[in-house]
Amino acid sequence: MGKFYITTPIYYVNDVPHIGHAYTTTTADVAVRFHRQLGDDVYFLTGTDEHGTKIEQAACARGLTPKQHADEIVARFREVAQKVDATIDFLLRTTDPKHEAFVQDFVQRCYDHGDIYSGSYSGLYCPACEAYYIEENLVDGLCPDHGLAPTKMEEDNYFFRLSAYQERLLEHYRANPDWIRPRHRFNEALSFIEQGLDDISISRSTLKWGISVPWDDSQVIYVWIDALISYLSALHFAPGEDLVSRFWPPTYHLMAQDILKFHAIIWPALLMSAGYELPEHLFIHGYLKLGGEKMSKTRGNVMDPFPLIEQYGADPFRFYCLREVSFGQDGTVSEEGFKSRYNSELANELGNLLSRSTSMIDKYRGGAVPAQPAGRSPDDSPLAAEASATAQTARERFEEMDLSGALETIWVFVRRMNRYVEEQAPWKQAKEAAAEDAAGAGATGPGVTGDANAALDATLWDLAEGLRLLSVLLHAFIPATAAAIRERLGMPAAIGVAASSEASSEVGRADAGPSWEEAVWGALPGGLTVVTGPPLFPRIED
Ligand code: MSP
Repeated sequence: MGKFYITTPIYYVNDVPHIGHAYTTTTADVAVRFHRQLGDDVYFLTGTDEHGTKIEQAACARGLTPKQHADEIVARFREVAQKVDATIDFLLRTTDPKHEAFVQDFVQRCYDHGDIYSGSYSGLYCPACEAYYIEENLVDGLCPDHGLAPTKMEEDNYFFRLSAYQERLLEHYRANPDWIRPRHRFNEALSFIEQGLDDISISRSTLKWGISVPWDDSQVIYVWIDALISYLSALHFAPGEDLVSRFWPPTYHLMAQDILKFHAIIWPALLMSAGYELPEHLFIHGYLKLGGEKMSKTRGNVMDPFPLIEQYGADPFRFYCLREVSFGQDGTVSEEGFKSRYNSELANELGNLLSRSTSMIDKYRGGAVPAQPAGRSPDDSPLAAEASATAQTARERFEEMDLSGALETIWVFVRRMNRYVEEQAPWKQAKEAAAEDAAGAGATGPGVTGDANAALDATLWDLAEGLRLLSVLLHAFIPATAAAIRERLGMPAAIGVAASSEASSEVGRADAGPSWEEAVWGALPGGLTVVTGPPLFPRIED
């Protein structure tokens, strides 16, 4: 059994959540559910970033205190996790006093280590990024990410000796060439470090909404330092036993490329300074785009996924995210794209496969999934080799965090099964079996059938087994659908449920799903009776 600790960024509460946040939380949950199926000790952290200029400004614009504003918005972020069916273990809020105390302790460690000094700073500040820019990194004088004009800021504050960590960071990069995935993001961060690192300002004197610098309460800690430390502080006070020793360092910090530098350069340097182990990996997924641009509230070009989730459920949204966008690359999404994939893949391919298979078992065998014909073993099935290869490749891709690649592999098998139905034509096999019955063959006792009956039984067994296997492989992506497939096959819900992680769940933990040990061809239990029902994915008619 391994350990798997994954984090999403802690999201800003200046505005309500949008599809980009839902995407990161959803994809993290896919990885989490797979690791729970493996039986790993899993921890899934998300959170909200509640200090800093932009939260203060957003609250002020609404006539609220920053805390009142944050209390309201955080409820919306909890709701997102529930809506996308994400099984998070804890949602950290940076205004939690326990986090605030931990951050002070952490920064004090860096100070005691001689890495923090006072100085004065002037620069161009983008409040949407909560970051300084140098002139040449602006696009037409505007922030490249938000298209906003930065403000000139000048103040006395504390600096962290980032420059002193340049060599150690380079060593870390050289020794761990896959610590940032995908590879081009590793190269991007590395070349930034190679260009030379300047010290960074880590406190603000002009802002009140933040955590006080422990040795100087006229300053607050820069919101990004406060935010990064959340990945470690959460484990110190979230409910659960020995979380720090069980889960630190994180297996993956997941995020998009907008915040790569903070995680790839500043965060490891801070951890080295304070004396903690570094995260094992960063995984940088791409941007969801609309009309060729990154979606963002600031830019005002966002697609709202929540009505789609309300109407069609979490599974189609999760499926769309992992099918439409190659994980680790940017991808364009749209409501039309969602509907078209829903119809062509969920309704026509998976949904149809399930309803044809169960209704044929119902019609030709009175609902009872036939046993293997005498003398036939699971390996004799024409699907056996492909099924085993699918499970194997899907696992490898999951383990490399190639989540969309894993789904693609599984989907090739869904299509293979639909072709199998056409090739075997069970409706013809059923006619031949009926003729055989009429001619008196197959009437000599249970388990003894004629060739035509045996051929039909073999096909129906293969279909049931293929669907069972799919319920294991697809659980991480579409958990409610995977459970519904098992129900239609007449499998008790409790079969194969892996032990869930002992960490306590903050937001409605679903069951751990079928164990990955079941991802083998031939594990279909005997004596099942299928349940037929309405289509799992009724077509969307426009
Ligand atoms: N508060 C900081 C993160 C601190 S982590 C220590 C922050 N918050 S954020 O609300 O702006 O979230 C940024 C993250 O949201 C991205 O890195 C990504 O995970 C997700 N996304 C926001 N917009 C997105 C897209 N358009 N597409 C994909 N993911 C997006 O930065």
